[in-house]
Amino acid sequence: MPSSRRLVLSRSAALIGAASTGLLLPEIVRAQGAKIRVGLMLPYTGTFAQLGVAIENGVRMAINEQGGKLGGREIEWFKVDDESDPSKGVENASKLVQRDKVDVLIGTVHSGVQMGIQKVARDSGVLSLIPNAGVHAATRALCAPNVFRTSFTNSQPTLALGKAMMDRGHKKAVWITWKYAAGDEAFEGFKESYTKAGGTIIKELGLPFPNVEFQSLLTEIAALKPDAVACFFAGGGAAKFMRDYAAAGLKGKIPLYGSGFLTEGVLDAAGPAADGVITTMHYSDSLDTPRNKKFRLDYAKAFKAQPDVYAVQGYDTGLLLVQGANAVKGDLGAKPALYKAMEGAVIDSPRGKWTMSKAHNPVQDMYLRVVENKENKVLGVAAKALSDSGAGCKMG
Ligand code: PHB
Repeated sequence: MPSSRRLVLSRSAALIGAASTGLLLPEIVRAQGAKIRVGLMLPYTGTFAQLGVAIENGVRMAINEQGGKLGGREIEWFKVDDESDPSKGVENASKLVQRDKVDVLIGTVHSGVQMGIQKVARDSGVLSLIPNAGVHAATRALCAPNVFRTSFTNSQPTLALGKAMMDRGHKKAVWITWKYAAGDEAFEGFKESYTKAGGTIIKELGLPFPNVEFQSLLTEIAALKPDAVACFFAGGGAAKFMRDYAAAGLKGKIPLYGSGFLTEGVLDAAGPAADGVITTMHYSDSLDTPRNKKFRLDYAKAFKAQPDVYAVQGYDTGLLLVQGANAVKGDLGAKPALYKAMEGAVIDSPRGKWTMSKAHNPVQDMYLRVVENKENKVLGVAAKALSDSGAGCKMG
């Protein structure tokens, strides 16, 4: 099948000739009737593999709710496993944009890989929807009219964490993370919120992504005896961190906190080691709203799995794309109208309604949650309508 773009290009000469014969309109209608090419660039292997699957499920669920179409047009899917490998980010994004000629690129999870996508999106102008990766630059200094994020910035969840820890009387904390953009920027949010609330960070610990040899760092934490530990980990590595934390004898002695990714999608794998872990996040399984309950039931039915924050972010990416595509009746080439619709969208998400900031990042509530019986239970709202600063964003 030729792509809509190829169809338009290969027929452009014929169209010029046809203009005088009255054939132009049917030709254009046919070109617009071609399938919309949707590219998924996600991790399907490695420590973030299950995050990629949950995101894809969510995207497909939102579009299936529209009969599997976007703005009335059928879809052709293209998939690339980005392996959470930043060194292949540009190459993999280029495969989708140059080779597969996608109309929209949905991806990805890892902040380093996202920087590759951002470059390709800025150079090509292709519509780029970020369903997870929180790297600040994508909606700050390197923001772009064709790039929209449906998830968070890396410092958003941890900006809500510091006060919650101080409220519980933890005045001295150790921070630990994978040393790459996501961990470093999560630390920025934690440092700002915790020190502002009067806390002291006595040590910053780190290891390279996706390393999971936590033992020597846990020994160091035991020796430092902080009031609490705060961290950023996600996916398979997060489950192992919580198990190792318990096995090292720290659970029950030094309370463990984190941005909520720590306990997303891993509660079966972590088992009792996750009980009592307190986190801040823009979603919680137990949100007691009809919207969330219906979402969770429908997702479980469709995919025989429990949804997590990644599934919600994928679903919201689909909702955003549906709203945009409907506004332009499936003509994703109508960029000003498409962007305007997406900028003004109110996303009726399982996490609660959210809107787009000027820099194209969600303005959203952050919940305080605790793990109980393999569920993230809501303790309250830790920050209301939290917006990223969008510092340095100038839409070109
Ligand atoms: C990121 O690299 O931006 C990232 C990865 C996994 C998460 C959150 C952020 O759960």
